[in-house]
Amino acid sequence: MHIFNQGKYKSLHAQSTGELAQIREQVLSDKDFRPTYHLAPPTGLLNDPNGLIFDGEHYHVFYQWFPYDAIHGMKHWKHFITKDFHTFSEADSLIPDEMFESHGCYSGGAILWQDKIVAFYTGNTRRASDNQRVPHQNIAIFDKSGKLLEKRCIIDQAPEGYTEHVRDPKPYLTIDGKIRFVLGAQRQDLTGTALIYEMDNLESKPRLISELALPHFDNHNVFMWECPDLFQLADKDIFVWSPQGKLREIQQFQNNFHATYAVGTLSGNQFNAEHIEELDYGFDFYAPQTVQQANGILYGWVGLPDLTYPTDRYKWHSMLSLPRQLSLQNGKIYQKPVSEVYAQCHSSQKVLIENRQTIAHLDTAYLQFEWQNQPLNIRFFDNAQGHHLTLNYQDGLLSLDRSASEQTELMAQFGEIRYCRVERLEKVEIFFDRSVMEIFINDGEKVMTSRFFIANRENIIQVSQPLSLEIAQISAIEYK
Ligand code: FRU
Repeated sequence: MHIFNQGKYKSLHAQSTGELAQIREQVLSDKDFRPTYHLAPPTGLLNDPNGLIFDGEHYHVFYQWFPYDAIHGMKHWKHFITKDFHTFSEADSLIPDEMFESHGCYSGGAILWQDKIVAFYTGNTRRASDNQRVPHQNIAIFDKSGKLLEKRCIIDQAPEGYTEHVRDPKPYLTIDGKIRFVLGAQRQDLTGTALIYEMDNLESKPRLISELALPHFDNHNVFMWECPDLFQLADKDIFVWSPQGKLREIQQFQNNFHATYAVGTLSGNQFNAEHIEELDYGFDFYAPQTVQQANGILYGWVGLPDLTYPTDRYKWHSMLSLPRQLSLQNGKIYQKPVSEVYAQCHSSQKVLIENRQTIAHLDTAYLQFEWQNQPLNIRFFDNAQGHHLTLNYQDGLLSLDRSASEQTELMAQFGEIRYCRVERLEKVEIFFDRSVMEIFINDGEKVMTSRFFIANRENIIQVSQPLSLEIAQISAIEYK
């Protein structure tokens, strides 16, 4: 075991007495923005969901975690086990302590193999002589109780023809019992792609089969594919991935990077896409991953690479989305929170808002209303600075404006309004959780997930015309 401790590449093993407790105090001094029913890091920075798997009884949820600060430092995998997405108990984390992960345990997925959970992940390392990044692909084996049994490296360099940006293995089992994984990659000509590897069993050496061809995707300017995920939904093959480099457009690809999906048929190594679209139209959603063996449950990171947030001053950054059940309708992916989230709704009431009204606990509420495709304008929250959010619908375009709220320079740099085309607006559901909102439109046809920062807020809704709402509260997550 090595105890890494070099600047921001500091593992949990190198913590000094009381160090995390002190950071935790700073986190808890945030009285405005900590979510109650979304998974957020106890301290430091959270990014991608990792290793998601249902082991037959429990879900294992890991996430990328740097414990010490709201920056991208030494990445660990924090590990939780849950039966119901409400009570979470902690299990063994992945802590970088081997040379094949000297600069962090980067993202990956998991499979069940002979009753064990096998997490595939990228060991980020840097060569001592010239600081050159050398990606390793590793496995970590856990028992179902969440105990870490073993870690080892299965690939110790990037394959020929690709740069050092080769990461994020997502494994799955083939019908003939082999292991395959897709891996995000960058070709030597600096374009993004994904690679498919195969292993006969856990002991055998991974063989590179080929790239995953996706001819219907416009890969122009795209320099890297992060977090690829191949799975099936109903009778279709689905590819979810996070391409980097697509130029921003006015009503789509609006963020700095994008979480996208393709629906189609995988034939050999070619993915024939019938539909390609972004998964989410909000300000903050990236690196989603589906839960292995759970039939289309997906978590995303409510955040983006390179962004800073106002909570960085409290030494915490980002959270996971709610777990979402995916379904296919008319060849497109629909997303709704899993039924376990709805089961946590309580104190439901009907409210008619005529103009401007205070709604108790709006900032941790679930809101739902039906709509007859009319224009709509709603303002949420208020404070001494006049901060609020505006949701507007007109001419088939839904927009969310957070310009009148606190933003870091980097947040504002990518625009202050997000748009989402919705031909007929019939139903809106919003999950507010203090600094995050997830908006589900028309029972999951479109989703907008965003952070917002309104300190000392008043829980107020103001509408342009009378609005009849159902409002409920969602119980806070319990950590056992
Ligand atoms: C995506 C990502 C992955 C990488 C991880 C590192 O957000 O950049 O490609 O494995 O984060 O934390």
